[in-house]
Amino acid sequence: MAPPPSPLAYIPFVSVENMMRLVHRFGIEDVLRELTDAIEADYLRWSLFEKAPRLASHSQEGVIELMPTSDGEAYAFKYVNGHPSNTAKGLQTVAAFGLLARVDTGYPLLLTEMTLLTALRTAATSAMVARRLAPAGSRVMAMIGNGAQAEFQAIAMKAIVGIEEVRLYDIDPEATRKAARNLAGSGLKVVACETSQEAIEGAQIITTCTADKAYATILSDNMVGAGIHINAIGGDCPGKTELHKDILGRASAFVEFEPQTRIEGEIQQMEADYPVTEFWQVLSGEAQGRTDERQITLFDSVGFAIEDFSALRYLLGKLDGTDFFQQLDIIADPDDPRDLFGMLQRAA
Ligand SMILES: NC(=O)c1ccc[n+]([C@@H]2O[C@H](COP(=O)([O-])OP(=O)(O)OC[C@H]3O[C@@H](n4cnc5c(N)ncnc54)[C@H](O)[C@@H]3O)[C@@H](O)[C@H]2O)c1
Repeated sequence: MAPPPSPLAYIPFVSVENMMRLVHRFGIEDVLRELTDAIEADYLRWSLFEKAPRLASHSQEGVIELMPTSDGEAYAFKYVNGHPSNTAKGLQTVAAFGLLARVDTGYPLLLTEMTLLTALRTAATSAMVARRLAPAGSRVMAMIGNGAQAEFQAIAMKAIVGIEEVRLYDIDPEATRKAARNLAGSGLKVVACETSQEAIEGAQIITTCTADKAYATILSDNMVGAGIHINAIGGDCPGKTELHKDILGRASAFVEFEPQTRIEGEIQQMEADYPVTEFWQVLSGEAQGRTDERQITLFDSVGFAIEDFSALRYLLGKLDGTDFFQQLDIIADPDDPRDLFGMLQRAA
């Protein structure tokens, strides 16, 4: 009979069920606000982090990615996929889990579901950027693509940027009906639209959040007027974009980590010298954000490892004093650290 694991063997694990309980306990708007501030705080420590384009394994159907980073004290990675054809099979386009560890011992600190956490951190990142770049007094957002991420995006823009109206459009009207239903009690005015053109009418922020493994044209140049902030979420892989390249010619583009976005973002359509600003530079004051009210600002979002690192550390902090986790026995801990085999032998 194997002896019970020692206390050192246990790592907190946040299941999907516990993540949902946690969000309800603290309230989704507060969680999004706190997460936005946590990500912003880490963006202000940008130079401390290890940074590399994520490791992507492409297939005909989609992509599986590993997203690691470290600030020298903690190390994090996320496993995430992107399979646009999954929803037709009853599966999520994006599913994820992740881990946070100590750098000094290499021992894990936290293992968690990250499908919900990714939706929250992506929305928080979009809102962090929009609160600096969107035209002053933005109140209306168009939301093109009404899938899994959509409501999170709308609620974050309400809580952090002050959006009051969201105008929904999806090629699948059922997705729009689902999002409208879910946002009914959110405090947002929700308008379901029949075309993307109708959705962007009167909007100061346009969020594109579609999933298609193609060079799609969700927005064409003639659709985008002056004084707009575009929050482009869905173009995040080689060969997977949402905006016509002429829009990029008129826009000021802001990115997360330039070497990764050159490969994966909307700007993959442009020459290598197309100018972009890494958003952390706006926060630190090294670069300008929006400089005039007629400007088109574009957040060419692909999702970067530091945002997941921030989300994992934020989550670990939130677990203190709660029961929103289980202890998982995932680290073998023999009495004598060199007697791993003996531990196995004695368990017979
Ligand atoms: N930038 C980031 O950090 C980040 C994070 C998470 C997801 N994503 C990306 O965001 C996208 C959306 O993710 P999701 O989980 O909501 O996917 P999803 O499959 O749940 O939803 C996508 C929606 O887009 C709609 N759509 C497809 N083509 C369209 C078109 N031409 N016009 C209007 N609607 C269209 C689909 O009908 C679907 O409802 C994906 O491409 C995903 O890879 C990016």
